[in-house]
Amino acid sequence: MSEVKLEAMPGSTSIEVALKIWRFNRETGERELRRYEVEAPGEATLLDVLDLIKDRIDGTLAFRKSCRMMICGSCGMRMDGAAVLACKQRMAEIAESGHVPVISAMGNLPVIKDLVVDMTPFWDKFKAMKPYLQPGYEEPVEGKEHRISQERMNVIHKESLCINCGCCVSECNSMEADPDFLGPQALAKGMRFVGDPRDGAKIERLEDYNSEHGIWDCTRCYFCNERCPKGVDPRDAIAKLGAESIEEGIDRDMGAKHAKWFVKSAETTGWLRETELVPKTQGIVSSIKEMKFALGLARHGKVPPPFPPHVAEDVNEARALHNLVREQGRGGALGIVQGERGLARIEHTEAGGLRRDSAEITPGEEPIRRYAGDAPGQTTDDRTPGSGA
Ligand code: SF4
Ligand code: SF4
Ligand code: FES
Repeated sequence: MSEVKLEAMPGSTSIEVALKIWRFNRETGERELRRYEVEAPGEATLLDVLDLIKDRIDGTLAFRKSCRMMICGSCGMRMDGAAVLACKQRMAEIAESGHVPVISAMGNLPVIKDLVVDMTPFWDKFKAMKPYLQPGYEEPVEGKEHRISQERMNVIHKESLCINCGCCVSECNSMEADPDFLGPQALAKGMRFVGDPRDGAKIERLEDYNSEHGIWDCTRCYFCNERCPKGVDPRDAIAKLGAESIEEGIDRDMGAKHAKWFVKSAETTGWLRETELVPKTQGIVSSIKEMKFALGLARHGKVPPPFPPHVAEDVNEARALHNLVREQGRGGALGIVQGERGLARIEHTEAGGLRRDSAEITPGEEPIRRYAGDAPGQTTDDRTPGSGA
């Protein structure tokens, strides 16, 4: 094999990078944290550094890679216990700080060797999602193609960005407790098809995802959103699946009942009526079994009396907000605002477009349609191709 040559960019300096890597051999069960030091160009990524180590120091080091540019999803691994894409992670700042990061294989998947995991459980769940459009949709008129509104595409835009790297699965708390949990990647993939108006199996899909090990087993820890290198935000996809399920009347799970009661309680009183939360979520019979516990809480002043219900002074604001969502037809996934933020992230321009997470982006607005030079009311659709938008 020829030596890896990583030339520094003109004007850039080289860096001394030190790493500790968890080496593992599944056949012998040997495990060892080994330290490596290597000189690398200032722009080097973690993947570049691993290439240099493998080429110059230790050819037995195992890791996966292919595209080297955040497309193929092969190079997921952990740095200091958090999943990263090695080809995205720059090393200069870390090396200059003197920190020596610990590199290890992704979590929640069996390790085969060093930084290589067995992706079989990941792909099994991916395939179980039937990640293709199901027949049943209306065929377009001959010679025409399906046209889907921008608003509908916004709902599944982020989910379409997934590169199947597994970083979200690596960090998922629910999967750690229950390996059968469908998990963030599979559910984000599921939402990509549930939200596609051309798919003919929306209800069947939602029924599946509402079963045991499905959407309501997510603990909402948001680690998947935090670690996804492509901005898919799988937790948001799971929230959309929950909203779509309730919209379609698939609400048998306690999680769905819980969510519904939050909305009802906020709408009617402006508060969360906690005392009624248990019977509304678990049902009367189950609540009676919890009576001893409830009385104990009541004795310590932890259970507010249900009657008369505590109504917020400004309850009308909560009701007006609820009515607005209804009037705008923002039930189901359309009511999950993060989808619009995701669009802002990829559509912003140096010419002055809004950035992701801008506080200015609110439901009902059209963040992608504002660019420096646009006339008021001009839209993406109005813009002439090649005009710089
Ligand atoms: S938010 Fe849910 S799916 Fe995402 S990592 Fe946490 S438990 Fe897993
Ligand atoms: S959702 Fe993000 S982290 Fe998870 S597999 Fe897809 S790209 Fe990777
Ligand atoms: S090598 Fe392809 S995503 Fe990193």
